[in-house]
Amino acid sequence: MGEKFYITTPIYFPSAKLHIGHSYSTVACDAIARYKRMRGYDVMFLTGTDEHGQKIERNAQAAGVTPKEYVDDIVASIKDLWKLFDISNDRFIRTTDEYHEKAVQKIFEKLYEKGDIYKSTYEGWYCTPCESFWTEHQLVNGKCPDCGRDVELTKEESYFFKLSKYNDRLIDLIENNPNFILPQSRANEMLQNFLRPGLEDLAVSRTSFKWGIKVPFDEKHIIYVWIDALSNYITAMGYLSDDDSDFKKYWPADVHVMAKEIVRFHTIIWPAMLMALDLPLPKQVFGHGWLVLDGGKMSKSKGNVVDPVLLCDKYGTDAIRYFLLREVPFGQDGVFSNEALINRINSDLANDLGNLVSRTVAMVIKYFGGTLPEMRKAEPIDDTLAALAKEVREKMCEQMDSFNSPLALTEIWRFVSRTNKYIDETAPWVLAKNEDDRARLASVLYNLCESIRHIAVMISPFMPSTSKKILEQIGADGEALTTFDSLGTFGASSPTLTVKKGEVLFPRIDLKKELAELEAAKK
Ligand code: MSP
Repeated sequence: MGEKFYITTPIYFPSAKLHIGHSYSTVACDAIARYKRMRGYDVMFLTGTDEHGQKIERNAQAAGVTPKEYVDDIVASIKDLWKLFDISNDRFIRTTDEYHEKAVQKIFEKLYEKGDIYKSTYEGWYCTPCESFWTEHQLVNGKCPDCGRDVELTKEESYFFKLSKYNDRLIDLIENNPNFILPQSRANEMLQNFLRPGLEDLAVSRTSFKWGIKVPFDEKHIIYVWIDALSNYITAMGYLSDDDSDFKKYWPADVHVMAKEIVRFHTIIWPAMLMALDLPLPKQVFGHGWLVLDGGKMSKSKGNVVDPVLLCDKYGTDAIRYFLLREVPFGQDGVFSNEALINRINSDLANDLGNLVSRTVAMVIKYFGGTLPEMRKAEPIDDTLAALAKEVREKMCEQMDSFNSPLALTEIWRFVSRTNKYIDETAPWVLAKNEDDRARLASVLYNLCESIRHIAVMISPFMPSTSKKILEQIGADGEALTTFDSLGTFGASSPTLTVKKGEVLFPRIDLKKELAELEAAKK
């Protein structure tokens, strides 16, 4: 096994229905995890659910069930959603798992014993949907600065974590490690908005509700849900448990991935907790942008949600994965619209990729009965394919090593286009007319199959099932032809390969008709 690579998604709040924007963090992580596995890393990919807190307690009450019943139901649907999205997580943590609860209590105790947690009174504002504390001057027009919703005035006896003590070390961390926060612009945000003005100590327990992990030495206090949640990244690896071998092997995380609004928890509170615990810090925190709709973030409260299950059922999981990974520029927001989705499917998937595969397979069947003969006649133009395959593979890796899936896909599509152009340039249908050109025709079709094999392997982190289907169609099976290393040779496929006609990978969608149908369904 190669070097370890530990990657995490945020753990999800079990809200009744996840929208397509939510899927983004997990799909983005999945592509990175699959890419790293393909490169030979020993990957640990963690996801899970963040199940405690006042919001859940209230939602459960409103639904007339216990909080545990409430979360069990939703967690099952979240797991189904990840299955639908072909998510390859190695582990799934629930913050209601007993081992997690015990370890969080030990973490709290450790911080208390160290003198980094003390008891006092909290007076200030609390946003229940975000589970965030705010001071008066942080509010925007009296509302939560993150979500714009109402906040509640709170006065409670509370334990505090000495966040202020770590202010200078956090500034050093961020200033001296330009790659700690990606994209780097978010680092400035943290410095300017939170660290340079000076951190205040953080209230880390609540007494006004019951659904959470109890402070072990003062049981009327419930541990603040973000302390509980952030700890998942180490408790899931067995930190402070009887078996901490995974913790020793995988910690520190190589990257925590999340959307931008929770970067501050991961780059301020989380490293401060780790400093207090004398543990190594995660190597990187990647804050991606939002998938937005009509200029605003998707949110259930705004009513502009798009159902990921419906989208996957309608267009196929890989098409939706492709759209998400291609459409949200690195670190910036991406816009979701049915029109953008259908256009992407039609142009990139149906036209460029789907046609390339179906045309090639059809020609091998039509001109050679499905199996290529061994005869060959090379021409200089063939070298352009092999050279570009290598160049694109290297660039794709560069992009994925910095988590930039849109540009990695752009690179791969450069090769898809070049391969399509090679068909036009070599015009196999003309070669087929002349018996003397049989050897050249066989070479052209072989090069096309070989290019398609390269494309299929390169897209496997993004569209795993499409990759498999394509490899089957061009008769590429077994390690020798489907691993990343197998791409080192352009020409690894058997000279007498046999193709297999398969289903249409991405049926073309009639944009006008589809939009009208979607509109009608909405009404
Ligand atoms: N429970 C916390 C995370 C705790 S991590 C220790 C949480 N959960 S969440 O369910 O609200 O969000 C899960 C992920 O989805 C987060 O990365 C969040 O930022 C992301 N997104 C939610 N809406 C999104 C979009 N519209 N677009 C992209 N990502 C979005 O936060």
